[in-house]
Amino acid sequence: MATNLIRGAMNMTSRLRSSTVAPASRLVLDRPYATETEAQKVEPKASSGSGGTSMKTFQIYRWNPDNPTKPQLQDFKIDLKECGPMVLDALIKIKNEMDPSLTFRRSCREGICGSCAMNINGCNGLACLTKIESGPSETTITPLPHMFVIKDLVVDMTNFYNQYKSIEPWLKRKNPPPTAGKEIPQSKKDRAKLDGMYECILCACCSTSCPSYWWNPESYLGPAALLHANRWISDSRDEYTKERLDAINDEFKLYRCHTILNCARACPKGLNPGKQITNIKHLQLTGGA
Ligand code: SF4
Ligand code: SF4
Ligand code: FES
Repeated sequence: MATNLIRGAMNMTSRLRSSTVAPASRLVLDRPYATETEAQKVEPKASSGSGGTSMKTFQIYRWNPDNPTKPQLQDFKIDLKECGPMVLDALIKIKNEMDPSLTFRRSCREGICGSCAMNINGCNGLACLTKIESGPSETTITPLPHMFVIKDLVVDMTNFYNQYKSIEPWLKRKNPPPTAGKEIPQSKKDRAKLDGMYECILCACCSTSCPSYWWNPESYLGPAALLHANRWISDSRDEYTKERLDAINDEFKLYRCHTILNCARACPKGLNPGKQITNIKHLQLTGGA
């Protein structure tokens, strides 16, 4: 079912566009994630299910800008007894042993860098923290939805990073530090206000699962950028709170969020960008108080 929907989406998008980049599929569903700690504890080999075959098929989105035909799902069969437990292990095995042209981003392998974000069986997540599902059913892997594809599972993050940059994600002061040449002190209580925001790894799983972001990717800042906006608005050391609020007090930049909360379901770090957006809207109403 999911595969048919993804194939349908790919057929539709390839009919609609003939540019040098291809849009990815749109599916966002529920899937359990492993925490970083769980990912480090798991057995070195993937489970093949109780008494089932150890062979598993991975259907992977392929698109090559050097040969820009219609995007396709390509099947790869892997013996799970010979593979690590995570989806990223399967991708690395396929690249190393079956098709070196398969292209995807990854770096840390432990849910820190955010580079292996992709859509796995219809849900956005990090390939390095997503366990290979046991059982014979196929695992379908496509790029982050509604992003332009550079190659295979690699999407163009330029717009996403520009939106992050637009909220000026650094400390801004009008006054010098209380003690010249020293850090600006912050109480434990004020520091705790940043919990639930500073942990963001900018993987884009939330923004690319947000229907409002799908329809207005250029004008709506999306949950990730807005979470970071609130991170700096909430920082007791920052002295540009009003200016920051004014800069995003916009029908499109902020108010395209309709509290659908797909973003919270998609976040592999367990964050809730929708809640942070609600906080910004509240501050807009109360004048930052
Ligand atoms: S809560 Fe807002 S940002 Fe999150 S998915 Fe819904 S519309 Fe998008
Ligand atoms: S809020 Fe979560 S899903 Fe969104 S970019 Fe940050 S870590 Fe990724
Ligand atoms: S490889 Fe860094 S988060 Fe997955």
